[in-house]
Amino acid sequence: MQRKKILSIFGTRPEAIKMAPVIKELEKRSDEFESVVVVTAQQREMLDQVLTVFNIKPDYDLNIMQPNQTLAQLTSRVLMKLDPILEVEKPDVVLVHGDTTTSFVASLAAFYHQIKIGHVEAGLRTWDKYAPYPEEMNRQMTDCLSDIYFAPTVLSKANLLQANVPEEKIFVTGNTVVDALQQTTKHGFSHEITKKWDPDSKKVLLTCHRRENFGKPMEQVFKSVIKMVETYSDLEVIYPVHPNPNVKKQAEEMFKNQKRIHLIDPLDVIDFHNCMSECYFIMSDSGGVQEEAPSLGKPVLVLREVTERPEGLETGILKLVGTCEKTILNAVEKLMMDSEYYQSLTKQNNPYGDGYASIKIVNLLNEQ
Ligand code: UD1
Ligand code: UDP
Repeated sequence: MQRKKILSIFGTRPEAIKMAPVIKELEKRSDEFESVVVVTAQQREMLDQVLTVFNIKPDYDLNIMQPNQTLAQLTSRVLMKLDPILEVEKPDVVLVHGDTTTSFVASLAAFYHQIKIGHVEAGLRTWDKYAPYPEEMNRQMTDCLSDIYFAPTVLSKANLLQANVPEEKIFVTGNTVVDALQQTTKHGFSHEITKKWDPDSKKVLLTCHRRENFGKPMEQVFKSVIKMVETYSDLEVIYPVHPNPNVKKQAEEMFKNQKRIHLIDPLDVIDFHNCMSECYFIMSDSGGVQEEAPSLGKPVLVLREVTERPEGLETGILKLVGTCEKTILNAVEKLMMDSEYYQSLTKQNNPYGDGYASIKIVNLLNEQ
C-alpha cells in the first residue's frame, strides 16, 4: 500500500501544542503515513519548549523569528522559505493549524503548489475583522484556501457552512488541545515555582499578550490586577510573561513594586497546565487557555471584548470581561465572595473536545 505523505507546518507555541498529538499519531501509524514536519519557528524559544516536551524532531526548521517582527516581515519570510520545500516534498496533504501568520502563509504556499490543505481547528469566528487581530482574518483566509476542515465543535462547523464551505468537507473532531492536556497533567505535581508560593494564598494565573491589547487596554488590565491584589490580601498572581517586547516592557514597568504579582518566564506546557490545575482562577486573553480550562474546572476571566470560543461562555466557566477595570473587578468579586457560584463553575464537561480529536483527524486523513 502506498503511504500518504502528510506535511505538517507550524511555528508558534499554541500551534505546536495542538499539533503535537496529531504528529504523534501520524508517527505511530508509520505503515500508513509518511509524516514530514516543518517548523517556521515564528516563536523560537516558545516553540522549542513544546518540541522538547513532546519529543518532536522537525525535518525542516525555517528559523525565521526576529525580535519584534512585523506581520509583513513574517509573511514574506515564511512564504519564501516554504516554497522550495513544497517543490521538493510534494506531499499529498499539507496540514496547518488555527489562525497564526504561519497558518495562513503556509496554506497560501500550499495553494500556490496546488497541494491539498487540511485545516486543523477550522471554523472559529468572531466575524470581527480586527478582533482578534490579525487572527480572525488569518483563519478566514486559511479556511478560504483549505480542502479538508477539522472543525472542533458543531458551532465551528456552522460557521464554515455560513461561509459556504461544502458540508462534505467538514468534520467535527473536537479540539486536539484536550488530547494534549491529557498527556501533560499529573497528580501530585510539584515544581520549584509552586514550592515557593505561600501555601495559604489563592493563586491567580495571568496571561496577556494579544496585539489588539497592546498599550492602553493592557495598561487597564494590569491596573485591575494591582487593584485586585490590594483588595484581596489572600491572592497571589503568577504571570508567565510573553517575550514580545511590547508586552514585557509594560508588564515589568507596571508590576515592578508588586510583591504578590510574580512575573516569570514562559513555562513549558507541562508546568503551565499543572499550574493551571493548581490555581483558583485564571485571567487570560489567550485562545488555547479558554479551551483547556474547562477540563481542569478552572474559571477564566477572558480579557477580550469578543471571543471565537463562545461554547465556554454558555457553560459559565468563561466570562468575557474585556479590559475595563470595573468589569474585571466585579467579576473577581463574584469569584471571591460567592462560593456557591464558584463551585458551580468547577464541575463541568469540556465543550471543546473529548481527547480523541487527533485519532479522528488521522483516521480522516486516511480516507482522503
Ligand atoms: C502569535 C500569534 C497569536 C498567538 C501567539 C502565541 C500571529 C499573527 N499571532 O502572536 O495568534 O496567540 O503567537 O504566542 O501569528 N518572541 C520571542 N521568543 C519567542 C516568541 C516570541 O522573543 O519564543 C518575541 C519576538 O520578539 C517576536 C515577538 O515576540 O518578534 C512576537 O512574536 P509573534 O509570534 O509575532 O507574536 P504574535 O503575532 O503577537
Ligand atoms: N502556555 C504555556 N506556557 C505558558 C503560557 C501558556 O505552555 O507560560 C500554553 C497554554 O497552556 C496554551 C497555549 O500555551 O496551550 C496558549 O498559547 P498562547 O496564549 O501563546 O496563544 P493563543 O492560544 O492565544 O493563540
